[in-house]
Amino acid sequence: MPSLGEKRRGKRHDGSKAASQNTNAAARFGRALADNARFIGTWFNKPLLTGAVVPSGADLARMMACYVDADRSGPIIELGPGTGVITDALLQRGIAEERLILIEFDPDFCTLLRHRFPKALVVQGDAYALQKAVDPLLFGTVAAIVSGLPLITKPESIRLRLLRDAFNVLQKGAPFIQFTYAVISPIPLRARGFIAERSSRVWRNMPPARVWIYRRFDGPHIRQTRRSALALMRRIRERTDRLGADLRSKVISKLPQS
Ligand SMILES: C[S@@+](CC[C@H](N)C(=O)[O-])C[C@H]1O[C@@H](n2cnc3c(N)ncnc32)[C@H](O)[C@@H]1O
Repeated sequence: MPSLGEKRRGKRHDGSKAASQNTNAAARFGRALADNARFIGTWFNKPLLTGAVVPSGADLARMMACYVDADRSGPIIELGPGTGVITDALLQRGIAEERLILIEFDPDFCTLLRHRFPKALVVQGDAYALQKAVDPLLFGTVAAIVSGLPLITKPESIRLRLLRDAFNVLQKGAPFIQFTYAVISPIPLRARGFIAERSSRVWRNMPPARVWIYRRFDGPHIRQTRRSALALMRRIRERTDRLGADLRSKVISKLPQS
């Protein structure tokens, strides 16, 4: 049984632990408030570039990060990290900060990201010119690309070009992960050369969102397979017609008439 002194010390210990938890929670809350204010300010000045009024919520950030395979080696690129909510979720997933390349257009967000993630490589630049932005930095292929870009505000051709450029630097089978508030895929699904997967909708986000995962598809495309099958059937039919004609002219015509 603990002595009175031990009990008092225990209480003091519990009390200081609770106080430090409260301080941490207050610091997190303060940081979230400051980030929201920063985001609203940026959105007010550049609504199309920012694409959201507030940063993503923790649930959406976790949903994005869960599609990154932590066991794959190589750098991980984040496009449009903003204040770093998804970056945080990547670190919580066990990804080393040194592996991260963060490409952000807004210089103020870049300053904040450099302060928050000093071991990550923060590049101030245009993520839609992906190859130009990352070519000088890469010494190998990329394990995943995580994008918070407001893709849907861009023309379809630019979105498709971004995905194509992403596949050029990604490892085989590695994902391009994108969230969207839209109900449809931000990359048109009728386009060729990739397979798409989607998460369930994340309701606890402002506004609710969903994650799409695109991977390069190197196998034959269904339409291609259909075309090849039709060509094969046409060749078989031609060959059978020719055989039939041969049979008629060389064999049947020579049979005695009854
Ligand atoms: C919708 S916010 C997402 C921010 C953060 N990832 C999040 O989930 O809270 C879009 C971010 O993309 C950045 N952005 C927009 N266009 C960009 C571009 N062409 N290149 C790099 N970053 C861009 C914006 O500055 C902003 O930080």
